[in-house]
Amino acid sequence: MKVVVSIGGSVLVPEPGADRVAEHAAVIDDLVGDGCRVGTVVGGGGVAREYIGAARELGANEIELDKLGIDVTRLNARLLIAALGEDAVTAPAEDYEEAGEALRRGDVSVMGGVAPAQTTDAVGAAFAEYVDADLLVYATSVPGVYSDDPNEVDDATKYDSLSATELVDVIAGLEMNAGSSAPVDLLAAKIIERSGMRTIVLDGTDPDRISRAVRHGDHEGTDVVPDGVGEEPTYWANGER
Ligand code: UTP
Repeated sequence: MKVVVSIGGSVLVPEPGADRVAEHAAVIDDLVGDGCRVGTVVGGGGVAREYIGAARELGANEIELDKLGIDVTRLNARLLIAALGEDAVTAPAEDYEEAGEALRRGDVSVMGGVAPAQTTDAVGAAFAEYVDADLLVYATSVPGVYSDDPNEVDDATKYDSLSATELVDVIAGLEMNAGSSAPVDLLAAKIIERSGMRTIVLDGTDPDRISRAVRHGDHEGTDVVPDGVGEEPTYWANGER
């Protein structure tokens, strides 16, 4: 089974520190040990926001801010690489081909951002499409995809399952509400829709949840099941590749 795991910066590095990163690396190591091929994408989190905020005050333009954000995602990616040791690449891949080659070699690929004007949500979806992954997992700091921002709206409901087209519609609605944050952005949703990529959005702060989702499809987040996607991967059913 080939899986791409996109780990939010606020999940992996709520603040620079070793424990959280080591726990996530251990889960990735276990999946690899069981024969799973794993590509990872790491976000920038609060550290990226702080740098971007400071540079904005200093007058940097949006592309410059994005470049700064990309640099921070790559710093976070280097932390994951440090924890993965010899199973992983030696430096964050800077484009999809480099990351794809690492996967073909049997390494865990690790990347952060790749280009301005997007986030690592889109990188995860594009990389999953590029390597024709069986599954894309977004390990976010929220429990799944909601009808509204649960921090703003009391009766926001969590979706257990959505088609990819429904995901695009829900995210487009959320992004129109200023200030509300969607767990996955619209570009990512559109890439998932066009590629027909089976996707799970879950709370990845406890990395064991990522492991259970990949191994068994067992999770409390949101399943995105594009039209025409076949049966669940057998890996989920019997714990084998
Ligand atoms: P993130 O993917 O962490 O963005 O990239 P985010 O959605 O703001 O973070 P979370 O999910 O809430 O933790 C951080 C920043 O890096 C730049 C963007 O400015 C983004 O906001 N970036 C990232 C890019 O410009 N291109 C990329 O491919 C990735």
